[in-house]
Amino acid sequence: MQDLTPKKESLDPIEIASRDEIAALQLERMKWSLAHAYRNVPHYKASFDVAGVHPDDLKSLSDLAKFPFTVKKDLRDNYPFGMFAVPRKDVIRVHASSGTTGQPTVVGYTQNDLDVWAAMVARSLRASGLKPGDLLHNAYGYGLFTGGLGIHLGADKLGLTTVPISGGMTPRQVRLIEDFQADGITVTPSYMLSILDEYKRQGFDPRKSPLKVGIFGAEPWTNAMRREVEDAFDMHAVDIYGLSEVMGPGVANECVETKDGLHVWEDHFYPEIINPETGEPVADGELGELVFTSLTKEAFPIIRYRTRDLTRLLPGSARSMRRMEKITGRSDDMIILRGVNVFPTQIEEQLMRVTTLAPHFQIELVRKGRLDHMVVHVEATLEGAAKTTREASAKQLAQQIKQVIGISAEVRADAPGKVARSEGKAVRLVDNRPKD
Ligand code: DLL
Repeated sequence: MQDLTPKKESLDPIEIASRDEIAALQLERMKWSLAHAYRNVPHYKASFDVAGVHPDDLKSLSDLAKFPFTVKKDLRDNYPFGMFAVPRKDVIRVHASSGTTGQPTVVGYTQNDLDVWAAMVARSLRASGLKPGDLLHNAYGYGLFTGGLGIHLGADKLGLTTVPISGGMTPRQVRLIEDFQADGITVTPSYMLSILDEYKRQGFDPRKSPLKVGIFGAEPWTNAMRREVEDAFDMHAVDIYGLSEVMGPGVANECVETKDGLHVWEDHFYPEIINPETGEPVADGELGELVFTSLTKEAFPIIRYRTRDLTRLLPGSARSMRRMEKITGRSDDMIILRGVNVFPTQIEEQLMRVTTLAPHFQIELVRKGRLDHMVVHVEATLEGAAKTTREASAKQLAQQIKQVIGISAEVRADAPGKVARSEGKAVRLVDNRPKD
């Protein structure tokens, strides 16, 4: 793998500023953001009033804890444009969440918001090791999803050559990576695995691909998966995080030289970790739910938004800005099986240890008698496809899940290609338990 460490001169000075400087900027911006939300969004005026707080009460960053949380339901209740803090005509772009359940949530951007977004994605791509002139294969979906267009904005800003391929048509993905000699790829980690399969199907050696770095996000993935993909393509794999409600991709990103968690771009997004049960902030280093407050957003300011993503905050390393550890999972994706909490990422970690199984998986929950039952659907690699080998692989994975996670799961190891694929975010959990 090539050394892709960006030159220090190419960084934004604030990325390596002192903590005091960062905190001073945050406080000034937080005061503005709270006042802006309170003045211009009826929801915030009402929720601050009910909580008995006013933007003037914020004297220090820790005073933020006095302000009420914002949750997904607040956004749904104000569908479509009720959370906008500027007139609709000043909103020059909207995006929306997929909204598989109920009302989608709509977010908006002014020109200035798009400029900030571009700058944050450019910073993220640079931290990932890309530099002006590199060619980027952008396979995140274009459309209402923020992935494709968000990355595109930042790639333009950094001066990359962007191939806006979006998701799908996997044979063509491989062909264009090879024909155009892509330096970097932006895509969900699960779809990258489909691209890897396609490389093999077409008889290309992925280790000879031109790719130097893959920038993976939009869904949880493990360090075990990182090793798998880095080894398969002989390239770096870094993590990019973001969510529509806070902006889109580029809220936090790993640095290619350290790969030790994602630096939160704290000059624009203020992170907190709270205890999901009590709502109390916890100290840096402790695991909990990630909460964000936007510091500069004009169209769609967001105050103390509960992301439901579980992680912990760590001190800066390659940059002064704090890091968040790789996301363990969303609280919604946590499975409680006979009293034990399990995240799909824990299953992924164990799966990666069985060399005769491919890295694709789906977890199904069913009811057996009166008990919940977990079935882990996996598939064999080409080398491990024989029936006896599959049975042995399934047994090995079930044993590891039992020993390391502490739950009994049924593992079904099918033939290669049998586990459902997605071209964007993978569906890891299918709940087929009767609704009662
Ligand atoms: O997924 C934005 C994005 C696009 C991020 C492309 C990175 C790359 P949403 O569709 O609103 O936005 O989904 C946001 O996806 O709350 C997390 O649960 C999950 N997520 C996003 N990035 C990561 C990541 C985009 N790196 C939700 N690791 C978030 C784990 C992630 N989960």
